[in-house]
Amino acid sequence: MNHEVRKMLQKLRKSKNKKISENMVIPQVIKDKIMREFTQSEAMQMVEKQGAPFQRLMAYYQCAIMEVETKFKVLNNEFSLQYDKNPIETIKTRLKSPLSIIEKLNRKEIPFSIDAIEQNIFDVAGVRVICGFPEDIYEIADYFLRQDDIILIQRKDYIQNPKESGYRSLHLIIEIPIFLAHEKRMMKVEVQFRTIAMDFWASLEHKLKYKKNLGDDVEELSRQLKQCADDSAKLDLRMEEIRRNVEKQNRIQQRKRYDIVR
Ligand code: GTP
Ligand code: MG
Repeated sequence: MNHEVRKMLQKLRKSKNKKISENMVIPQVIKDKIMREFTQSEAMQMVEKQGAPFQRLMAYYQCAIMEVETKFKVLNNEFSLQYDKNPIETIKTRLKSPLSIIEKLNRKEIPFSIDAIEQNIFDVAGVRVICGFPEDIYEIADYFLRQDDIILIQRKDYIQNPKESGYRSLHLIIEIPIFLAHEKRMMKVEVQFRTIAMDFWASLEHKLKYKKNLGDDVEELSRQLKQCADDSAKLDLRMEEIRRNVEKQNRIQQRKRYDIVR
């Protein structure tokens, strides 16, 4: 248990509140609630204390997000010009909130500091690239990683190896330079690649995961969700196959037209 939470519980026990006796077992939900409330106020204090450096670090991560987003927009444009297709449907970006940063540091039992954030939390800057088809994901990720200012730190392929829950997505942790007035800084960014179907599933599952009072239904719901993920992955592959056939037909037609003109 977190040191501060233990201290807080001791204080509570010593307080005049007779309802909390020395030997009373405190349920996990209460501990979690205390932890959360503590973390919230701690987050505020930490951020206030480290005000300017923290804000600066967040601004750097925001710059890294902008750099990465631009790279994907350029790639999508390039595909549109060269191959008349737009593999990327949407790009979503987010900066991790101070509270989530502190919660993650606490989970890893690492004291809060600006250095600790940079060295231990790799998803402060998050970019999600939503593609139409699974093969577009690998193509776009490949072109992105070939750029000589991008350093790959970690690659997790949950499309080839889905999670137990059914979750699918390709995750990259990369480093990208940002150019400031007097220095070049390497910043880490987490990039998640998903198809529209994978993204839809993940959003739904995320919402349900944090729903309370699901009680005994949880297991059945998880089973159904896993089934949906598997069905949805099959559908992605079927649609990809249809697209391949349509493109093949287009190429045949174009060649025929070209032969007639010649
Ligand atoms: P985190 O500490 O959560 O960042 O986990 P990790 O560092 O082991 O990374 P992982 O690649 O497992 O997951 C990173 C992110 O992917 C999460 O923050 C979620 O956004 C997403 N994710 C991973 N697993 C799931 C899942 O089962 N369901 C949903 N909806 N999202 C998931
Ligand atoms: Mg993460």
